[in-house]
Amino acid sequence: MACPPELARRISGMSFSGTMRVAAAAGQLRAQGVDVADFGAGEPDFPTPEHIKEAAIRAIQENFTRYTPSGGTHELKEAICRRHAADYGTAYQPAQCVVSAGGKHAVFNLVQVLVEEGDEVVIPVPFWVTYKDVVEYVGGRCVFVETDEQEGFALTAAQIEPYLTSRTKAVIINSPSNPSGAVIPREEFRRILELTARRGIYLLTDECYARLVYDGAPFSVASLEGAAETVLVAGSLSKTYAMTGWRIGYGLGPERIIQAVIKLQSHSTSNPTSVSQKAAVAALSGSQQVVTHMLEEYRRRRDFVVGRLRAIPGVNCREPQGSFYAYPNIASALGRKGIHSTMEFTERLLEEARVAVVPGEAFGTAAHIRISYAASLADLERGLERLHHFIARLTA
Ligand SMILES: Cc1ncc(COP(=O)(O)O)c(C=O)c1O
Repeated sequence: MACPPELARRISGMSFSGTMRVAAAAGQLRAQGVDVADFGAGEPDFPTPEHIKEAAIRAIQENFTRYTPSGGTHELKEAICRRHAADYGTAYQPAQCVVSAGGKHAVFNLVQVLVEEGDEVVIPVPFWVTYKDVVEYVGGRCVFVETDEQEGFALTAAQIEPYLTSRTKAVIINSPSNPSGAVIPREEFRRILELTARRGIYLLTDECYARLVYDGAPFSVASLEGAAETVLVAGSLSKTYAMTGWRIGYGLGPERIIQAVIKLQSHSTSNPTSVSQKAAVAALSGSQQVVTHMLEEYRRRRDFVVGRLRAIPGVNCREPQGSFYAYPNIASALGRKGIHSTMEFTERLLEEARVAVVPGEAFGTAAHIRISYAASLADLERGLERLHHFIARLTA
């Protein structure tokens, strides 16, 4: 029998998400009854707030269970634009908004409609794993820009500038950052936009964690003068409202680009789930106290996690300014007892100490691990104690 034909090159080059791999390995152990301290998943441990769930239940009872427009309901687009205006001072209209099945879907679709074979896309390191695979999937070339760990990995315009060429199509920024928790200061955002707008380069800003900042008000580069033509927002309700499973995200930007995304959705996913869209309206239009409460809890956990990590000899950890990830440098624990990479470190940590974290290599750096503190304080205490002993054994 003849061999079946090969898969398309564009999918063979794609890797499974590093974070999903950790989640799967930890899940397998848990299924065997093993007590795992799981800091791998980037997922709030809070339940979705009651009023959001009630809106979804009402939607089902009222039979809001059919197709909606491919780019989402007008009601939800209005709610997204209103929320973005209230939070950041922007003035997007529903025609400049598309509702997607999560923020990841919005990033994927925006890259699909913007990036052509051979286009360069500038991505700051450390980066969220998906950017690289999605850009390469469409034949784009990732141009990685190192940031400065001493400055908490916050990106600057000066770091990007040397990497911009006539082939640069877009720069992708993510503030607060997954994995580093870095927040780009407002003034730096302005410099970055000035630079990209002047050069006619799209600035794709992933605002997945934009509401989760510990100091100062949340900020969107889309609110700056000169943003209208080249800034594209990818947003998500997943983390802000503890709605990861509902799959609602959005894109905001120039109408012609947003309409192109809607065209793409009309031939791929069609609309995001109708019921989830009703839940999203309730999330965005209802009281925002739920977000404040979760943020306060994340702040308590951040303070604990950073303090606890710094108490481990040889571990350095910058203080995350947003999101719910710590990204400690564990270089001093590498090169010992057969562990040469953060991938090997995380495998052995899971096997021997039953703690799940994500290796920095997944995010483009060689000496870090990502710890999600979207976990209870009790779990964090238990897991970080285990991490401490594991590193102490390695470095003894
Ligand atoms: C930086 C970043 N962007 C976007 C997303 C997408 O989230 P979702 O697809 O659940 O909305 C995530 C999820 O982990 C993320 O970390």
